[in-house]
Amino acid sequence: MIIPIQPWLDLVNGKEPGAAFGRTSPPFSGLILSTGWEACEWMEARRGDMAGFNHGGLSDRMDFYHDPILGEEILEALQPAGGKQIFDGTLGGGGHAELLLRHDAHVIGCDQDEAALAHATKRLAIYGDAFLPVRGNFRDMDLLLAGLGIGQVDGILLDLGVSSRQLDDPARGFSFREDGPLDMRMDDRAAFTARDLVNGWEEEELIRVFREYGEERHAARIAREIVKVRQTKPLATTLELAALVARIVPKTSGKHPATRVFQAVRIAVNGELEALETALEKSVGLLAPRGVLAILTFHSLEDRIVKRFMHRRSSPWLDRPEWSEPRPNPDCCFHLPSRKAVAPDEAETKRNSRSRSAKLRVAVKI
Ligand SMILES: C[S@@+](CC[C@H](N)C(=O)[O-])C[C@H]1O[C@@H](n2cnc3c(N)ncnc32)[C@H](O)[C@@H]1O
Repeated sequence: MIIPIQPWLDLVNGKEPGAAFGRTSPPFSGLILSTGWEACEWMEARRGDMAGFNHGGLSDRMDFYHDPILGEEILEALQPAGGKQIFDGTLGGGGHAELLLRHDAHVIGCDQDEAALAHATKRLAIYGDAFLPVRGNFRDMDLLLAGLGIGQVDGILLDLGVSSRQLDDPARGFSFREDGPLDMRMDDRAAFTARDLVNGWEEEELIRVFREYGEERHAARIAREIVKVRQTKPLATTLELAALVARIVPKTSGKHPATRVFQAVRIAVNGELEALETALEKSVGLLAPRGVLAILTFHSLEDRIVKRFMHRRSSPWLDRPEWSEPRPNPDCCFHLPSRKAVAPDEAETKRNSRSRSAKLRVAVKI
C-alpha cells in the first residue's frame, strides 16, 4: 500500500533547505505565487539557466504564473504558521503545498500520479525536511500517515480532480480535443482504464455512469451508440469517443459536447467519489483538536458530498418528525466557520479560468 517514497526523498537527501539554489531558507515575497504544471515546466526549462544564481530561489522567479486556486482563503483556513503538520492529499504541481511551506507549515504531499509527485518534489526540494512527498491515494490517508509514523495532523487539504497538466497531455487520455489512448488513469499502476469501461461495461451500466457522474441528458442514446459501434471494433482513442458523443449531443455555446461524458468516465475509472467519501470519514480520526479540513471541489457531485458530510458532522442536534424532541448528534465533531462555500472572486476567475467552478468548504475539528 505504501508507496515507495524513497525515490522522492532521494532528491532532497543530504541537502540543507534551500541548498540546491544557494539559499539557506525559503523565501517569502508575499507576491502572487506560481502554481501547477506550467510553473514546473518553466522551472525545468530554466534549471540550467539558473545554475549559480544566488539572488533568490527559483520559486521567486515563477511569480508570474497562476496562483493556486483560492490560495489566500486556504491559507486563512489552514493557518499554517508555527510548524503545523498539514496533509496535502492532492499535491499536483505543488502550488498549494508551496504556499503552506512558505508560511512555515510542514507538508506531507500525497499524489497518486507518479509524474506529479516527481515534479512537485523537485520544485519543493528547497524546503528540505519540511516537505515530505508520498505516493498514494488519499483514500488511504490513514495508512500513508501511519507508515510515516504520523498519528494526527493539524490540517488536511484536498484540491479535487485532475491537474491541467494531466488534462492537457494527450497521452494520458483525458482530453477530448486531442487524440490519445482511452486511458484516464491518474495512477498508472491501476489496471482498469477508460477503454475497459467503454468497451466492457453493459449498456445499463454506461447509462448510469453518464447520468450519475456526468449529469448527461443523452446518456441512453450515447450508451446505445457505444454498444453498437464496439460490436464492429472496440473504441480505442479519445477522439473516437468524442466524435461519437458529438454525433448525438447538440453543440451548446462554450462547452464541447463530450465534456460531461469524459467527466463521467474519468470519475468512474478513478473511483473519485468513493475516494472522497472514504477520505472525509477518515479525516475525523486523523485531525487533531482544532485541526482544519479544507476541500476544494469543481463540480456539483463533489460539492454535494462535502456539504452533506460537513453539515451532518457539525450539527449538534438531530431532529426527526417521529421524535418528540431533538436528540444530541453522536457524530458531531466539527465546527463550520461558515455553512456557505467560498468561491473565487471575479479577479481570480479572470486570471485563472479553471477556478470558475471552484468551491471551498472548511470544517474545524472540535
Ligand atoms: C487539481 S490537482 C492539484 C493541484 C495542486 N493543489 C496545486 O496547487 O498544484 C489534483 C491532483 O490530485 C491528484 N489526485 C486526485 N485524486 C487523488 C486521489 N484520490 N489520491 C491522490 N491523488 C489524487 C491528481 O493526480 C492531481 O495531480
